[in-house]
Amino acid sequence: MENQEKTPIYEALLHHKDKKTDSYHVPGHKQGANFLDHKDNLFQSILQIDQTEVTGLDDLHHPSGVIARAEYLAAEAFGAEKTFYLVGGSTAGNIASILTMCLPGDKVILQRSCHQSVFHGCMLAGVSPIYWKDAYHSDTGFERPLDLDWLVQKCRHEMVKLVVMTSPSYYGMVQPIRKIADICHQFDVPLLVDEAHGAHFGFHPNLPNSALSQGADLVVQSTHKMLGSMTMSSMLHVGSSRVRINDLERQLRIVQSSSPSYPLLASLDLARKQVAVNGYHLFGRLLTEIDQFKKDTFPYCKWVQELSLHHLKCQDPCKMVIASSGQMTGFEMQAFLEDKGIYTELADDRRVLFCFSLGHPEGSLIRLKKVLLELDCWLDSCENRLSERDSIVLRLPSTTEFVLPFQDIRKHQHVRLCLEDAIDGIITEPIVPYPPGIPVLLPGERLTCEWMEYLRGADRAGYRIRGLYQDQLTSEVRVNIVFV
Ligand SMILES: Cc1ncc(COP(=O)(O)O)c(C=O)c1O
Repeated sequence: MENQEKTPIYEALLHHKDKKTDSYHVPGHKQGANFLDHKDNLFQSILQIDQTEVTGLDDLHHPSGVIARAEYLAAEAFGAEKTFYLVGGSTAGNIASILTMCLPGDKVILQRSCHQSVFHGCMLAGVSPIYWKDAYHSDTGFERPLDLDWLVQKCRHEMVKLVVMTSPSYYGMVQPIRKIADICHQFDVPLLVDEAHGAHFGFHPNLPNSALSQGADLVVQSTHKMLGSMTMSSMLHVGSSRVRINDLERQLRIVQSSSPSYPLLASLDLARKQVAVNGYHLFGRLLTEIDQFKKDTFPYCKWVQELSLHHLKCQDPCKMVIASSGQMTGFEMQAFLEDKGIYTELADDRRVLFCFSLGHPEGSLIRLKKVLLELDCWLDSCENRLSERDSIVLRLPSTTEFVLPFQDIRKHQHVRLCLEDAIDGIITEPIVPYPPGIPVLLPGERLTCEWMEYLRGADRAGYRIRGLYQDQLTSEVRVNIVFV
């Protein structure tokens, strides 16, 4: 076992900074000198390590020095055969993985609810998607385990080249990766797991097991989401020899910047060190604190309730979802919380999602408890008059019609039309309500009347919807569409 206390990239950056060199290379800010006349120079300390590939700092695209050592330490800590540091988020990892594993026309199994980067990877690779139908618990709206018999049938009867699985979901629901990996491997199909929200898995027995430990061939993790690295920094782990490393390296060079950010890379080093050295202890403490906080809060609430499937052991304990047992929307509860200085991960028409991590300052959960109890009092004063309110829960249309393969969409010229005029047209880019950023209509699918009504409702309810465009002058909502 290597010394996980080491942080090769971070240490090399500090060493270079201490040499106080004169810079005749990019970046142009010259270790921050350019910014010195800004009064609140928040950037200054970071800019001192915002470097380029000078001697001693290695090259992300052909690593042989400190970056290679850092990636090696990460592979060991996360249990991978090989790990790549990413500076373009899990987005880059998903796209590069799909481009590596698939050729145009290949069949790929994926969930409709996967992140848009998976669809973008599929579109770029020109694959034919086979959608694995998601199922949801009716009371909580959380994802259920997927139908494994369906997977067996598809792997047996179709020439599937790749299975892409999202686990955990945004709300922290995990899928049975071990069983899914076993089925895939029975048919020699590689499994890519988008574990963007699960970089912390496996570092404590009360956290779910990591996808790598359950046999996934490729795993993408947004280290910046649930661990402590900087936004956009992520990792791509290879778990088996089903992945051609040289091809993957080439695709990563294609999708990632040739000027990767050193602060991002160094922050991956620090995040890895934190969990490799202290993860067990720190997560033990965090999980105990979360447990205590819930015991001290929810039994005293009349309206605020926790929606949870923790008893089924299929939910990340670092995610917490609340809803009102009355009519108040998640958006409205979120606005109340923000007014009190509590900013949450997301809200939807019903729920509010909280993420807990090792970064919480001491005492923050005591404050959260106080504010949730205040929220409960506020709901108590409002809910009775809301009881007459029409239900605001949006129902997704149950059917979609897939008409045009991904690879044919670009052959047609799209037009941008208001929703009514676009009915019966074919969508050219994912339609993605935020939160949570899961596409509801996919490229190649038809915009029906029912879908138009849904999108109007989502727009009215306050979702930001990528793939819809508001006309500046008329405020009309438009969509890019092709008619064939
Ligand atoms: C499931 C999932 N996969 C991938 C991504 C993309 O991750 P990143 O923001 O690191 O590019 C996200 C982002 O929210 C996500 O939710």
